[in-house]
Amino acid sequence: MSIVKPASKLTPVLTDMWDRERSWNLESYRANGGYEGLEKALKMERSELVDMIKASGLRGRGGAGFPTGLKWSFLPPDDGKARYLVVNADESEPGTCKDIPTMMANPHVLIEGVAITSHAIRCEHAFIYLRGEVVHVYRRLMNAVREAREAGLIGQGVGPNGDFNLEITVHAGAGAYICGEETALLDSLEGRRGHPRLKPPFPAVAGLYARPTVVNNVESIASVPGILRNGNEWFGAMGTEKSKGHGIFSISGHVKHPGQFEAPFGITMRELIEMAGGIRDGHKLKFWTPGGSSTPIFTEEELDIPLDYESVGAAGSMLGTRALQVFDETTSVVRVIARWTEFYQHESCGKCTPCREGTYWLKQVMLRLEAGQGQPGDIDLLLDVAGNIAGKSFCALGDAAATPISSGIKRFREEFEAGLTTPARELFPYEASSVF
Ligand code: NAI
Ligand code: SF4
Repeated sequence: MSIVKPASKLTPVLTDMWDRERSWNLESYRANGGYEGLEKALKMERSELVDMIKASGLRGRGGAGFPTGLKWSFLPPDDGKARYLVVNADESEPGTCKDIPTMMANPHVLIEGVAITSHAIRCEHAFIYLRGEVVHVYRRLMNAVREAREAGLIGQGVGPNGDFNLEITVHAGAGAYICGEETALLDSLEGRRGHPRLKPPFPAVAGLYARPTVVNNVESIASVPGILRNGNEWFGAMGTEKSKGHGIFSISGHVKHPGQFEAPFGITMRELIEMAGGIRDGHKLKFWTPGGSSTPIFTEEELDIPLDYESVGAAGSMLGTRALQVFDETTSVVRVIARWTEFYQHESCGKCTPCREGTYWLKQVMLRLEAGQGQPGDIDLLLDVAGNIAGKSFCALGDAAATPISSGIKRFREEFEAGLTTPARELFPYEASSVF
């Protein structure tokens, strides 16, 4: 695991404990102020807690940036029956690596966040849905849940008044990208094949077992204890007016020191690349992604855009999961996009025609362009198929598959044209690039 590097612009909050000895233990977490936020929260009225998170400006860290407190407030009035919190820990976006290291290094910050959120929405059974491949994270979370239960922090009849009831179930999925889509995740959690559901109704109204459910990303929930402990002013002092607070930016690819950098929203890619030691020696930046493979590709021109929801949105992209993948001039754009397209085709759940059929055709055309065996009209064909997927698919996966292709052609059309006659491996030998 890479450790956050010291630099003046960093704001280590969630990553603060990552390099401490046995940071995942309850003892270490408590020695650093852990569970003080829960103690405070259990003395507060539920509505007061929801209002506090609303006022903090915390926005969903899973990609969409939806205001967290507002989402909690969408739950219908309490009818005394079951209502659920589901933590989306199915981190799968290519290039995204923030939730898994958070859960490995500091699982208790998530458990504390789950407990505070459960109190706020009166949930007595919370779920953490994890992707199945990360067995080590599953074990670590299970151990943390056990520690919290043995310490009387969760369980039945705990809290200062003995009236706080909370069970936490850690559930490992089977490893499908679509199960990161919140409603497919709920289907999977209920024991069915993960297929997105029609929205509305949103999960807040009819979610798990058709009951009101809050679905939040790991980093969103893990940000809650810090806000409780330090207050809204502290949180709002980081970030920008509309994108407040700290966020973990994952930098991978052709930088000297890839890793996770926790910084205020509004930091620029230029600053982050500098913190990551710069582009590897002797090379220069060619392109990068602001939010994994699902967002348009950016180049040198966008290096100074503040990485907040509004500024990245105004530049025609989404901030997404802050999966900053960096590629230098040794990289074939066609090869990279062909890999992403194979991924989307493989992960398409098959529920709707534009995505199921379209991703198959995008993959065929991308593979022949990569092999230098493109056919005349292939670029128009790609744009046509991408245009028939984007905005016409049932869920965001379809849009995500189309986006890199249309933005890749816009920025590097000549490389796609070269694919009509020349294999990418001749133009960009594999040996030169350490990424693909
Ligand atoms: P969305 O914008 O449809 O919804 C965001 C959240 O707000 C959801 O929880 C939704 O239920 C809630 N919401 C929105 N309007 C609501 C309303 N009127 N009432 C109640 N609740 C409401 O975004 P979506 O499709 O959930 O997520 C897409 C994002 O996921 C993308 O931005 C992408 O970056 C990200 N993503 C993240 C991945 C990861 O590995 N973390 C993987 C793939 C995509
Ligand atoms: Fe499934 Fe793709 Fe349609 Fe989403 S867009 S429902 S992943 S087929």
